[in-house]
Amino acid sequence: MPPQHFAVVGSGPVAREIGHCLVRAGHVCTAVLSRDAGRAAEAAAFIGAAAGTTRAGQIPAETTLLLVATADQAIVESARSLGRAGLAAGRTLVHFAGSLPAAAMRLPETAGAQVASAHPLRPFSLESVDPSTFPGTFCAVEGDDEAAALMLSLMREIGADAFPVQPDRKVLYHAATMLPLTFAITLHAQAIDLLRSAGVPAATADRLVASLSEHSRADVASHGPRAALHGPIAHGDVPVVGRFAEAIAAHRPDAARLYAELALATLALASGSASLSPRDERDLREILRGLRAR
Ligand SMILES: NC(=O)c1ccc[n+]([C@@H]2O[C@H](COP(=O)([O-])OP(=O)(O)OC[C@H]3O[C@@H](n4cnc5c(N)ncnc54)[C@H](OP(=O)(O)O)[C@@H]3O)[C@@H](O)[C@H]2O)c1
Repeated sequence: MPPQHFAVVGSGPVAREIGHCLVRAGHVCTAVLSRDAGRAAEAAAFIGAAAGTTRAGQIPAETTLLLVATADQAIVESARSLGRAGLAAGRTLVHFAGSLPAAAMRLPETAGAQVASAHPLRPFSLESVDPSTFPGTFCAVEGDDEAAALMLSLMREIGADAFPVQPDRKVLYHAATMLPLTFAITLHAQAIDLLRSAGVPAATADRLVASLSEHSRADVASHGPRAALHGPIAHGDVPVVGRFAEAIAAHRPDAARLYAELALATLALASGSASLSPRDERDLREILRGLRAR
């Protein structure tokens, strides 16, 4: 790709890491814009930018790509300031937030600009900025067609595993990442809790759940979720699932709804497989709906 002339707004870890990677790939950072001259100079040095500045008006006119790498709450105002400084029309504005679409930067002041967002799915911290760790980072990209295509290419060029998301469903993408990132941890904790309710010693419960989780992760990675499913729901073992439902209802009624919802989702995943007959599936659904209603 021909060298892009880009400026970075903000001096945080995302600005530094992505800015540095782009310069290393041969692109030209014309300026770093910060609210503070010291931070502007420091971030410019880290990135390899031509200059650090506190004034949008000092960003060189040849800059065609503006990376708004500010904290989320400052993105809209930063885009507005760039527009007021004459740095929007005919240029591309990009932000890196997960929970905002690129369209958040579409304002009267930014008319004529292309907008995109590129969300790197990984934590960054100013204390441990290390551009060598960027390659392999998953990165969701959406926005206006040309701007999104540019960001997909640039992110891939610096090693990201970049992929498109639908602009009006960007937040759905972000919400979905909560399941493996956060809810898997919640389930892990719930399993330990239920084991302890059954009298399993705490240290054993921890090790047992860690081992089972590891096993499941490896199976899913090797075979995909549907083929990795096993256990009595996947195999249509109606009496066993019936006993599970009774045990949960008797000893941990507070966990019944969550258990039933997860079991119903598991049943839907297993539906149609050779090991689950339509009749067993119907009976299991009835048991699980009963548990959910208790
Ligand atoms: N950190 C992560 O783990 C992570 C992961 C994925 C995506 N992201 C996204 O990447 C973007 C940047 O993240 P970050 O962690 O680098 O951000 P950050 O450290 O919270 O903030 C970045 C910079 O924004 C500027 N800023 C902060 N508040 C401002 C305000 N009220 N007005 C104007 N400028 C302000 C500051 O620069 P100056 O003080 O120099 O002006 C600050 O250094 C965000 O959209 C974030 O959601 C972050």
